[in-house]
Amino acid sequence: MASPRSWLSFHVSSFIVTILIFCLSHCALCLDGQTVVDSPLLTEKLGINRTIKVDINGNGEFKSIQAAIDSIPEGNSKWVIVHVRKGIYREKVHVPQNKPYIFMRGNGRGKTAIVWSQSSEDNIDSATFKVEAHDFIAFGISFKNEAPTGIAYTSQNQSVAAFVAADKVAFYHCAFYSTHNTLFDYKGRHYYESCYIQGSIDFIFGRGRSIFHKADIFVVDDKRVTIKGSVTAQNRESEGEMSGFIFIKGKVYGIGGVYLGRAKGPYSRVIFAETYLSKTIVPEGWTNWSYDGSTKDLYHAEYECHGPGALTTGRAPWSRQLTKEEVAPFISIDYIDGKNWLPAWV
Ligand SMILES: *[C@@H]1O[C@H](CO)[C@@H](O)[C@H](O)[C@H]1NC(C)=O
Ligand SMILES: *[C@@H]1O[C@H](CO)[C@@H](O)[C@H](O)[C@H]1NC(C)=O
Ligand SMILES: *[C@@H]1O[C@H](CO)[C@@H](O)[C@H](O)[C@H]1NC(C)=O
Repeated sequence: MASPRSWLSFHVSSFIVTILIFCLSHCALCLDGQTVVDSPLLTEKLGINRTIKVDINGNGEFKSIQAAIDSIPEGNSKWVIVHVRKGIYREKVHVPQNKPYIFMRGNGRGKTAIVWSQSSEDNIDSATFKVEAHDFIAFGISFKNEAPTGIAYTSQNQSVAAFVAADKVAFYHCAFYSTHNTLFDYKGRHYYESCYIQGSIDFIFGRGRSIFHKADIFVVDDKRVTIKGSVTAQNRESEGEMSGFIFIKGKVYGIGGVYLGRAKGPYSRVIFAETYLSKTIVPEGWTNWSYDGSTKDLYHAEYECHGPGALTTGRAPWSRQLTKEEVAPFISIDYIDGKNWLPAWV
């Protein structure tokens, strides 16, 4: 017969085992629900074994990011990490077409920033950061164009923070700051994971075929405009074109009133799915401003959005509320063929 003491220890240990089992199953669920793509995971998936260190204080191979990019041979065919240590890098950075397979890794978007201040009539010219090489990945970096809003708008100038003009480009945990025309998502298949995007007018624009997963979209007020700004200005030009901006599970909030999108091309395609929309979204939701053709081919749509800006009363009559079946092909990673080129997605 067991002594009271061993009886107690038996019960205590089975209690601990029960708690452990509970925790393991419970925590496994937690993790699953909030998978975070971090840089060790990306490095492992890409199988990288070469790193170039950039340190603004001189403790790396280069003090400037552009100098590090310049050191990579043309026609590069193996993934290489350009690790940008913390600091504010005041330079324009260009990843040219002939330098693919660069993984630009920062120390976090609050720590590593690329900053420039330029407004121009030419979007591309104003851009702080330009990527024209396919297979490019950025992680934990802020891209900023500090050109003052007032001047930029009154002169009709734009201030682009990033110009993304290549196929197979992904940004993880990055931030894009500007006002008028922040992110020029020009062309190619792109994936933005947990990025912060700030602006006032047409601040995500272009003809990219892009998924923005868990984007944090902050609207900046622009007091001088009589028309309202717009989060997106997508310009899909034809029925056969695959381009479109798909926002999944993020949030849109900020200061002042904006549209979710304005039609920039006859087949303009933008979808906000399962996204929180604050009061900053005006009741019409979408605008055909400056587009004077028929609205029948526009694909400006929402799917199960929530929050005070998601009310559908007052929505532009040509905008769409999608069904589960209609939205399915767009909210799948297959929309950007992600399984064929993305190292990781959520
Ligand atoms: C790094 O990659 C190169 C090219 O694939 C390969 O030749 C080399 O053995 C690798 N080095 C290590 C340490 O894995
Ligand atoms: C607007 O852009 C043009 C070039 O496109 C430039 O010459 C001019 O200085 C810019 N204006 C401002 C206020 O930045
Ligand atoms: C553009 O939108 C406005 C307001 O919703 C509407 O009155 C107008 O008919 C639209 N234009 C076209 C061409 O559909």
